[in-house]
Amino acid sequence: MRAAVVTISDRSFRGERPDVSGPVLKGLLETSGITLIEAVIIPDEASLIKRTLVRLCDEENCELIITTGGTGLSPRDVTPQATREIIDRELTGMEQAILQESLKQTPYAMLSRGIVGVRNQTLIINMPGSPKAVRECFAIVQPVLDHAVKLLRDENPYAMHGENCHKRKN
Ligand code: MTE
Repeated sequence: MRAAVVTISDRSFRGERPDVSGPVLKGLLETSGITLIEAVIIPDEASLIKRTLVRLCDEENCELIITTGGTGLSPRDVTPQATREIIDRELTGMEQAILQESLKQTPYAMLSRGIVGVRNQTLIINMPGSPKAVRECFAIVQPVLDHAVKLLRDENPYAMHGENCHKRKN
């Protein structure tokens, strides 16, 4: 699986705050056997966010893009609305899973507007900006990533790991 991580933060882009969540995601992807082809830090600018996501989908052929940051309520938080503009289909089930499970960790989870969507054959997941949040959100989605990407490629995931699809969580 080809993956990219996009850190979206004015302060990290300007070098005023170290990007911790990007490297955390990088480690989580590597541990999951997912190949990280690019990690980039960009400011909270809708046009740049859209351009970056489109490039990673259409030119770099990423199968998975995880963004971190800019999902909250401050005036510069524009990640979800920028993402929504470049996706074809929204994956509300994964959004709801992230919210539902995150609320078990913190009530502040309800302050994230992050979305999940698909552009062509790329799955794009918005995660909040903190390292704690990306660890928690990644743990929620990780079990279904491989299956989701196979479906997007129009491969038959059931042929390869049919049982997993029906396996109960506990
Ligand atoms: N979700 C999880 N799982 N864990 C967290 O710690 N932090 C919340 C929320 N979602 C959090 C979370 C907080 S404090 C905020 S303000 C929002 O995500 C938005 O974060 P962002 O603006 O950095 O994207």
